[in-house]
Amino acid sequence: MKAWRVSELGEPRDVMSLEEVPDPQPGAGQLLVRVLGAAANFPDVLMCRGLYQVRPPLPFTPGVELCGEVLALGTGTTGFALSDRVIGASVLPAGGFAELALMDTATTFPAPGALDDGESAAFYIGYQTGWFGLHRRAHLQPGETLLVHAAAGGVGSAAVQLGKAAGARVIGVVGGPEKAEVARRLGADVVVDRHSEDFVAVVKEVTGGRGADVVFDPVGGDTYQRSTKCIAFEGRILVVGFAGGQIQSAALNHALVKNYSILGLHWGLYTKKDPALVRACHDQLSKLAADGLVKPLVSERLGLDAVADGLQRLGDGTTVGRVAYVP
Ligand SMILES: NC(=O)c1ccc[n+]([C@@H]2O[C@H](COP(=O)([O-])OP(=O)(O)OC[C@H]3O[C@@H](n4cnc5c(N)ncnc54)[C@H](OP(=O)(O)O)[C@@H]3O)[C@@H](O)[C@H]2O)c1
Repeated sequence: MKAWRVSELGEPRDVMSLEEVPDPQPGAGQLLVRVLGAAANFPDVLMCRGLYQVRPPLPFTPGVELCGEVLALGTGTTGFALSDRVIGASVLPAGGFAELALMDTATTFPAPGALDDGESAAFYIGYQTGWFGLHRRAHLQPGETLLVHAAAGGVGSAAVQLGKAAGARVIGVVGGPEKAEVARRLGADVVVDRHSEDFVAVVKEVTGGRGADVVFDPVGGDTYQRSTKCIAFEGRILVVGFAGGQIQSAALNHALVKNYSILGLHWGLYTKKDPALVRACHDQLSKLAADGLVKPLVSERLGLDAVADGLQRLGDGTTVGRVAYVP
């Protein structure tokens, strides 16, 4: 089969090569799938760079989330049948940017009938992360104000839709007019272009000085620091990621004085600590998709040849919405 492989660490465009490799073989509890779609995620970029908490042995095929058709079942596999259309995580080093990939039944779920292959491929990590962040960690309530950074990006776009579905008022922060248009299409009530506007001033203005009740922050660094200037009394800041490249420190005296909470979120840990909750989340998300309340905005559908370029642009912060490989 054809697969992208990373044999040394560096920028995706420099270190990924499209190769002819042996078909992967499913181990116990694993599924061999024909890839129907694989969405690009920032962790794929970080893994190419060797900067992610997960460091697969070289060479590996990136592509951490996908939609696939089950072609073969490993020993002891239950709950799935040949030809099932599924979504979930890949088993690295046999990731989704290939013709075939491996999945683990523990992190595989039925693909939502309401979504096509490209949309389904982008319906796992971002939406699960958004749901766990907003509901499990931050307990977002209807009528509250939610501030979402990188609102046109992967996890951010999911957080915008899930915030709206939960009855919150959503303020989306993005870099540039094209992304602003996407954030509006996703349903954000207020959109701030960080290149030309100060989100702190806008949040204060539209909340009558109160600030945002929940901040969803996949960017970190200075974006986090400035979010503390517009967080509401009893607000919650979700530390989701550091796409800006800087890991910030928190001033705990400030958290004390303003009565806000700083919440860490490592969604992947729930797949090990509480798999039943991840399944329940998938069911709820699938219902939201069936009701038309959430739907990944796949802005680019790439052929296999274009994957390394797409991943590089995601790492450079220039992609809009979700980018997915769809054969
Ligand atoms: N905590 C968890 O469990 C969890 C789960 C999944 C992902 N994550 C993390 O969430 C973050 C976002 O991942 P994603 O896949 O959804 O990516 P993404 O948001 O689609 O891409 C990153 C976005 O961050 C913004 N950004 C701001 N400064 C940047 C810079 N210096 N370089 C690059 N981007 C910059 C850009 O949006 P604007 O230009 O619009 O600001 C860019 O589009 C990553 O750090 C990832 O590791 C965490």
